[in-house]
Amino acid sequence: MLQTVQWAADACRLLDQTKLPTETTYLDVADEHAMWDAIRRLVVRGAPAIGVAAAFGVYLGVRGFTGDLLEFYDRLNTVCDYLATSRPTAVNLFWAIDRQRRTARDAGRDLPAGAADDHAVAVIKARLLATAKHMLDEDTAACRKLGAHGLDLLTPLADPADGVIRLLTHCNAGGLATVQYGTALAPVYVGVERGHRFHVYADETRPLLQGSRITAFELKANGVDTTVICDNMAATVMAQKKVAGVIVGTDRVAANGDVANKIGTLGVAVLARHYGIPFYVAAPTSSIDMSLATGDQIPIEERPAVEVTHGLGKQTAPDGVGVFNPAFDVTPAELVTAIITERGVVRPPYGEGLRRVVG
Ligand code: MRU
Repeated sequence: MLQTVQWAADACRLLDQTKLPTETTYLDVADEHAMWDAIRRLVVRGAPAIGVAAAFGVYLGVRGFTGDLLEFYDRLNTVCDYLATSRPTAVNLFWAIDRQRRTARDAGRDLPAGAADDHAVAVIKARLLATAKHMLDEDTAACRKLGAHGLDLLTPLADPADGVIRLLTHCNAGGLATVQYGTALAPVYVGVERGHRFHVYADETRPLLQGSRITAFELKANGVDTTVICDNMAATVMAQKKVAGVIVGTDRVAANGDVANKIGTLGVAVLARHYGIPFYVAAPTSSIDMSLATGDQIPIEERPAVEVTHGLGKQTAPDGVGVFNPAFDVTPAELVTAIITERGVVRPPYGEGLRRVVG
């Protein structure tokens, strides 16, 4: 399994996902500007991976700082505020940045009274790097746990005729959207380890094709039967009973269980309800935002028109035509069968269950 984010001597090494599936190349990111750009351009993408990358970005933005402690905290805040403007929808970005702000504050508090400023700054920088590295392991562990909980839900969907669990997924919420293993695909990987067989239909996920470029790439690399379909084929796949369930990831879950995920997810959820198949959402607790009452409040990123008009390596729409390119949509909680977290499965009504897992 390829690792999306890692620490390599003195830089944060990102798998460049803009190049998949034809090239496996890495980009070494050495400062906060390069990290901002990597997040914005989707070199690193997927809510959990964005969060961990941003945590390294915070460290990279302050590591060269010299000066007194107050100036250091000013600098830290500037870097945090800046990185927070890279993408608006995945709450993991803000969760990770806030966590680094707390890391710095707590490290400052732990210092003995009268510690010299240069010593204090060095200690806080080291703590920021250690926290980012820790988040790599933490994310991997959360995905594995989430995978085991998700597998319990998916096992009953196995086809009685041949034992294969047939699923549809949208976008990429696999290992390449996290540090490793993924969220929506974690039950598949854990299941394969335990001897279950899967067949996954991957929506190609226009306009940036995370489904065909990334989900199909990683499932195939891990030996899982995979069929790529254009987004407009999902209804036919369900009508023909080719899948027994849908599982997707999320960028942000509101307190009532409304779920933001890649544009097109809402349509898939509506179809799943129509065809009477379960619609599961895999959400590490770092993707749950209890500060927003409903999904209407989730900020939805709009991306450049060129992704729609020139997305397939050539111009596919006339010059000057109007383009609407929201990167995410919100699926109402009533269409979500269950939300799978690393701390267990939450079922409707979601308010209380989400509060419990977030703690
Ligand atoms: O624009 P992207 O590629 O970052 O969008 C990713 C998704 O929508 C994923 O489904 C979501 O972040 C969950 S990743 C575990």
